[in-house]
Amino acid sequence: MTNSIGPILVFGATGQQGGAVARALLEAGREVRILTRNPAAPAAEALRRAGAQVFKGDFEDPASIRQAMQGAEAVFSVQTSSPGGEITDAQEIAWGMLVADLAVETGVRHLVYSSGAAVGEEPTGMGHFDSKMRIEAHIRTLAIAATIVRPTVFMEMLMMPGFGLDEGRFAFFMTPDQAMQFIAVEDIGKLVAAVFADRERFAGRTFDIAGDRLAGQDFERLFSAAADRPIPYARFSEEVLAANDFLAKLTALQDQGILAGAADMDALRALVPDLLSFETWLAGPGRQSFAAALEASGAWAYSQ
Ligand SMILES: NC(=O)c1ccc[n+]([C@@H]2O[C@H](COP(=O)([O-])OP(=O)(O)OC[C@H]3O[C@@H](n4cnc5c(N)ncnc54)[C@H](OP(=O)(O)O)[C@@H]3O)[C@@H](O)[C@H]2O)c1
Repeated sequence: MTNSIGPILVFGATGQQGGAVARALLEAGREVRILTRNPAAPAAEALRRAGAQVFKGDFEDPASIRQAMQGAEAVFSVQTSSPGGEITDAQEIAWGMLVADLAVETGVRHLVYSSGAAVGEEPTGMGHFDSKMRIEAHIRTLAIAATIVRPTVFMEMLMMPGFGLDEGRFAFFMTPDQAMQFIAVEDIGKLVAAVFADRERFAGRTFDIAGDRLAGQDFERLFSAAADRPIPYARFSEEVLAANDFLAKLTALQDQGILAGAADMDALRALVPDLLSFETWLAGPGRQSFAAALEASGAWAYSQ
């Protein structure tokens, strides 16, 4: 195991993935830096109180990134993507490449880039996957020890209004007997912290990360048990797919086996033994958001 002790700069630390990574690294006793556009935001303040050093910066401001990277031993890189409606695919690509280039320039010894499980060698036709394919390809050309993790769908995302829990049902991309892999956001943090702890083992590797594999019918069983009432599962209806090209394309990718995830969960459990199954997540960290999702209402809000 590489005995690394220097600071790790975490991007996106006020968000889901970066937040989980920063907390897991602090928990592991590592020195953590974060870069945020708004150091006064509650999430940044909480990390500062937990021991992180907070840098004000922006993906649009290379000098701010250079400054935060100065003397950093390692970097966790994640960017937002176009389905959120705030940035373009071109911006995501430019930002992901910039972080990697500046990591090389400033002498960072290990870059961990978070991509997505649907990303592979070939374009998918979905902008927010193909952007990550381009960033991955760029990273592989660089003279830096890099690890690319590809998270599967976040368990947290299933609680969003629009998947039907507020109406006492659940709809997603699979048919009832097709399976997909999922990951709890906090497990992204634990896995990435384990990767940072062993640069020699993980440099040059790319792999999907997941904590559970579930078919549509598993959701019906688990949600019904957790809610103590029937929560039927069905794939998105033809009507929904006809009205929503984004969902229709993702559903087609599921049928092609591209969306499902291909994480080696036994290998990942050897690395982080307490990876959360969906059932455990639902009874623990996801309990409140599940209860809220059953009560929520709102327009379609799938964004990532
Ligand atoms: N949802 C899923 O199931 C799933 C699965 C696999 C991959 N993904 C990918 O995950 C990525 C999003 O990750 P996430 O959910 O962890 O993000 P998130 O929670 O939306 O957080 C976004 C983070 O990016 C930072 N950020 C945004 N614009 C910035 C800028 N101009 N300069 C510097 N920092 C900036 C924000 O920091 P400040 O606001 O503090 O500056 C924030 O910390 C997307 O690329 C998505 O495609 C999602």
